[in-house]
Amino acid sequence: VYEGEVAYLYCPLFCHPTLYSYSQIQNSSLSLLWYRHTHTHELEQPINLKLHTLHKDREYLWIQPASAQDAGLYICMLRNISSCVKIGVELKVVQKDGECDLKAQPHLNLTIPFHSKRTLTCPDLNKLTLPNSTHSVSWYHFCNSHLFGNGRELEGDDLVIYSMKGVYRGLYTCVVSYQMNGRMLQFTRNINVIVVVPDAGSKVPIILNPASDQIYMVTLGDTVTLSCHVILPHLYEEKQHIWWTIDKKTVEELADPRFSSPEATLASYKDGDEWKERVLNVMDFSADDLQREFNCSARNSRGFNTSRAVLKAELYFPTLELSCGLGVTLALMLMMFVIYHVFWLELLLLYRSWFGSDERYTDDKQYDVYISYARNSEEEEFVLSTLRRVLESEFGYSVCIFDRDSLPGGTITDDTLRFVGQSRRLVVVVSPCSAVRGTQALLELQAGLTSMLHGGSLRVVLIQFKPIRRKIWVKELRRARLALTLIRWKGEKSAPLSSRFWKQLQLELPMRRDTQDSQC
Ligand SMILES: *[C@@H]1O[C@H](CO)[C@@H](O)[C@H](O)[C@H]1NC(C)=O
Ligand SMILES: *[C@@H]1O[C@H](CO)[C@@H](O)[C@H](O)[C@H]1NC(C)=O
Ligand SMILES: *[C@@H]1O[C@H](CO)[C@@H](O)[C@H](O)[C@H]1NC(C)=O
Ligand SMILES: *[C@@H]1O[C@H](CO)[C@@H](O)[C@H](O)[C@H]1NC(C)=O
Ligand SMILES: *[C@@H]1O[C@H](CO)[C@@H](O)[C@H](O)[C@H]1NC(C)=O
Ligand SMILES: *[C@@H]1O[C@H](CO)[C@@H](O)[C@H](O)[C@H]1NC(C)=O
Repeated sequence: VYEGEVAYLYCPLFCHPTLYSYSQIQNSSLSLLWYRHTHTHELEQPINLKLHTLHKDREYLWIQPASAQDAGLYICMLRNISSCVKIGVELKVVQKDGECDLKAQPHLNLTIPFHSKRTLTCPDLNKLTLPNSTHSVSWYHFCNSHLFGNGRELEGDDLVIYSMKGVYRGLYTCVVSYQMNGRMLQFTRNINVIVVVPDAGSKVPIILNPASDQIYMVTLGDTVTLSCHVILPHLYEEKQHIWWTIDKKTVEELADPRFSSPEATLASYKDGDEWKERVLNVMDFSADDLQREFNCSARNSRGFNTSRAVLKAELYFPTLELSCGLGVTLALMLMMFVIYHVFWLELLLLYRSWFGSDERYTDDKQYDVYISYARNSEEEEFVLSTLRRVLESEFGYSVCIFDRDSLPGGTITDDTLRFVGQSRRLVVVVSPCSAVRGTQALLELQAGLTSMLHGGSLRVVLIQFKPIRRKIWVKELRRARLALTLIRWKGEKSAPLSSRFWKQLQLELPMRRDTQDSQC
């Protein structure tokens, strides 16, 4: 109850008229007593009816008016000498938010169909049986009292709605005021008015899904969820049912743990009509299940409807296997990519050893390699002690080094031309000194480039022993650079035979399967 308003407590024992009725106990030795259980007192205390605010009337206890201290547990007890029965009822006293509270909890839900006439009576007004009380009733709709007079009229204590409309729905509040023993008393009741469609036409449940032309796609082996949508037309105070059957058996009758169907859920609501959904879950859907008859049915007092769900197995789509396959393919590709980038030299050498041809059988050249280098330079030591040794004794190439220093006149001598022409490869160890005019190194280079550029079978390979700036390269070399392979010596790192340097060099040199010594 609101603080400061009248409260009446109804003894809940009389909620069961077959067990107890007030008229019966009037003639018996039973008496009705009210007790109270407060937080301050451990024991139940009899109600002091001498207090002017408390008044016992038949099966009611009136509190006129209730204050915050009146909140608590009240006990009504039926007792005679030999027996006693009692029950508790809790009273809550809340603060009233102004004259009218829009957020109030309704005391009553009232459903009114469209276009119908209805008289609203303030609840509990009929309980005011006190003699000689004069009372008045005020009505509000959404806390507004000036709405009445057009379609809705105040008639005495009641509010009459002549023809129910959508705008008439919502919260109605009535405040009853009366005088008693010289005091003004009042109580407030909130009514929630709900508008519903009139009870006309067919009220048989309508099954939207499964529709007759609807096909439910199912995946074998998966958990399949079949959904049933039903419109349950508004009917007063009636429980309507939706359920699934599998081959005419409900889920309960089937008692198979693979099948389950949770309670229907409310999907939508309009003016009393309800759109409800109930699903059927089938675990490990098998091919046999495809042959079963899955029906969704709905029933109310007006009729029954049923509809079969037509199932079709979805094409088996091996998502997992496919993604695994894709993953493996990608991983393989990645692996091959990595292998190629790390071992491409080895792969090329391997390829050549299988499919390459030995040039010795197709030409009549004397040497495999002609090494050209600048004499009296840093490179000389490398050429004579490392390059030559490895090529000859490790790889078995026939190596020619034209072992004479600079020639007078600076012309390409016949000997140099002849030896270069007799070689399959010209390995040029690039050095700043290569550029020195008139040196043997330059002659060799010129001979090689000329031979190569004029369609000879000689190939020129460059080795860079120490990094040198492009600018100081001889112009012949600079011009040919792009067409030539340059292999870089990286000091100690390149020394082992398994190093990149030697592999690269081997790839550029003729293919060799066996060793053969040849000197020039
Ligand atoms: C109680 O007694 C009155 C007369 O005192 C009688 O009219 C009434 O029917 C009785 N009620 C019952 C339930 O026996
Ligand atoms: C007391 O009331 C009970 C019913 O509640 C009844 O059965 C019993 O006979 C009554 N006892 C006396 C002494 O009236
Ligand atoms: C009124 O209806 C609402 C919503 O359905 C419900 O929560 C509430 O308990 C009802 N109140 C009464 C007094 O029936
Ligand atoms: C009610 O009160 C009025 C005065 O307000 C008095 O005339 C009338 O006799 C009373 N009736 C009863 C039944 O007490
Ligand atoms: C259900 O019943 C109504 C009324 O009898 C009917 O119009 C409707 O076609 C029926 N079938 C389904 C699947 O709702
Ligand atoms: C299932 O629904 C179909 C209509 O879709 C109906 O013909 C059939 O009789 C129903 N079966 C059961 C067992 O209700």
